[in-house]
Amino acid sequence: MCESKIVAGVGTSHVPTIGRVIDDRKTGESTWLPLFTRYEHARELLALQSPEVAIVVYNDHGSSFSLDAFPTFAVGVAETFEPADEGWGPRPVPAMAGDPELAWHIVEALISEEFDPTVCQRLPVDHGLTVPLSILWGTPESWPVRVIPIAVNVIQFPTPTPRRCFGLGRAIRRAVDSYAGDGRIVVVGTGGMSHQLQGGRAGLINKQFDESFLDAIVKDPDRLVEMSTDDYVRLAGTEGAELIMWLVMRGAMAPDVRALYSSYYGPVSNTAVGIVVMAEE
Ligand code: DHB
Ligand code: FE
Repeated sequence: MCESKIVAGVGTSHVPTIGRVIDDRKTGESTWLPLFTRYEHARELLALQSPEVAIVVYNDHGSSFSLDAFPTFAVGVAETFEPADEGWGPRPVPAMAGDPELAWHIVEALISEEFDPTVCQRLPVDHGLTVPLSILWGTPESWPVRVIPIAVNVIQFPTPTPRRCFGLGRAIRRAVDSYAGDGRIVVVGTGGMSHQLQGGRAGLINKQFDESFLDAIVKDPDRLVEMSTDDYVRLAGTEGAELIMWLVMRGAMAPDVRALYSSYYGPVSNTAVGIVVMAEE
């Protein structure tokens, strides 16, 4: 019998500098080793779940979309996705194979549930997606997973509410459960942790909030869903509000999960690095 199954959920920050360190093969340098040792643990534990497909919930940072038109939610249904040029050339990572059949199934299921995402036949993907792939799978010749990008607007207000993001995750879960095809799926939520890149509070990092978020995303997501967008901006900074994308991932998981790995490290660049790998009980 064919069966598709969500075998793991991952939440991770997507700091561009980390992509650069990986591309320059500097992960073994003493300043970076403590971070990449942590990633190595996360990677090994995820590999044990042998995922074949990654649904990656990320945000485009003005690479494929612009303020002229910014979709609240978008799903990539292409055969392949190229790394985007973010101003200094695309990252030297392989193109990502898509999974058009599952992606279209998700689109149809979401639209039948009145979620109405933008459907992207071409979607160059920026560091919001490629850095998490490099964190989780290193520097392979070709990626070991097929990729379905799901983009969330956290750039131009009004952004979707935390509750809507969690609801999107629940709808993605129902779509996977109703899919007739095969596949071991990891859902990845990217962004955060607390950071603000501009304005009066530039440089903000709220360790206490980040650590409580890492704990609650596993054990008590309802607490995070009940917070408002303003709460996220106040506690985690304007860009820290990217954390709502972890709620899409969490919504796609069962209510009870266990953390296989959780780590908080930093600061790195303008934020702190959080990573959590979870599986269902
Ligand atoms: C940084 C973090 C981000 O999430 C991002 O999109 C850009 C920059 C940073 O920490 O520098
Ligand atoms: Fe970002």
